[in-house]
Amino acid sequence: MTAPLLQVDDLVVSYNGFRAIDGMSLALDAGEIRVLIGPNGAGKSTICDAIIGRAPVTSGRIMFKGEDITRLSEHAIVGRGVCRKFQAPGILPTLTVAENLAIAARRDRRWWRNLRLAVPPGEAERVDAMLERIGLADRRDVVAGELAHGEKQWLEIGMVVCTDAELLLLDEPTAGMGPAETARTADLVRSLAGRHTVMVIDHDMAFVEQLAARVTVMHQGKLLKDGSVAEIRADAEVAAVYLGRTKHDAAA
Ligand SMILES: Nc1ncnc2c1ncn2[C@@H]1O[C@H](COP(=O)(O)OP(=O)(O)OP(=O)(O)O)[C@@H](O)[C@H]1O
Ligand SMILES: [Mg+2]
Repeated sequence: MTAPLLQVDDLVVSYNGFRAIDGMSLALDAGEIRVLIGPNGAGKSTICDAIIGRAPVTSGRIMFKGEDITRLSEHAIVGRGVCRKFQAPGILPTLTVAENLAIAARRDRRWWRNLRLAVPPGEAERVDAMLERIGLADRRDVVAGELAHGEKQWLEIGMVVCTDAELLLLDEPTAGMGPAETARTADLVRSLAGRHTVMVIDHDMAFVEQLAARVTVMHQGKLLKDGSVAEIRADAEVAAVYLGRTKHDAAA
C-alpha cells in the first residue's frame, strides 16, 4: 500500500474562536478525483484555504507527499505542487485566452512583470494542447474578460492544469452553469484523473454523478460521510443536513 498523496488529520481552523474546521480528516490517493460536498458554511472552501496555506490552523496536520506542509507559506505549498481554483474566477481579463494559459504554464513568475521575456521551449505546444482540451481553441485570441461565464470557468481550470501541479483544488467549477456546460466540465475534470489528483467542491448532484468519483460529505467543519455517489444519495443523515435538520433529527 502506498501512502496517500494528501492526508489531513484532525484539522482545526478557528476564526475568533469559531471552529470553521472542527476536527476534519481526509486522505486522497495519487491520481484520484474526490468530490467534497456539504451544505453552505460546512467548511469546504476553508479546507482548501488550509491546504494551500491561507487559513489559521489551530491544531492537526496536513501532509502532502509524505511531508508536513501545515505551517508552510502559500508560496512554498504552491512550489511543492498544489494549485487551487477559487470560487470566484481568477483569470486576467485584459489578456487573451492563449496568454492566460501561457502565464499559468510558466514556472518563472517574472513573466507576470515582463510579458516580453523569452518564451520557453514547448510552451506554444502546451498552450495549444490545453486550448483543445478545454474546448476554447477557436477562442484563443479573444480577450478573456469577454468570454461567456462557462468559458471563463474552463479557462481557469485550464490555467490550473497548465501549472502542472500534482494536486488540484477546484472550488465550485460549475457555479452558474447550465446542464450542457456542467456535463462538459465533468468530462474535463474526469480527463485529469491519473496525471493529477483532484479535489473538487460542488453542490450540483448531477455533476457529482457524472464524475463518478468517491464523495466526502462535510458538515459543521467535520467529516459526515464518505462513500460512492449511490451510498451518499441513499444516506439519511446526508439528506437531513441538506434539509437543514440536525443529526439528532435524522436519527429520530
Ligand atoms: N476568513 C474567515 N473569517 C471568519 N469566518 C470565516 C472565514 N472563512 C470562513 N469562515 C466561516 O467558516 C465557515 C465555513 O466557511 P466555508 O466558506 O469554508 O464554507 P463552504 O462549505 O465553502 O460553504 P459554501 O458552500 O457556501 O461555499 C462559515 O461559517 C464561514 O462564515
Ligand atoms: Mg465555499
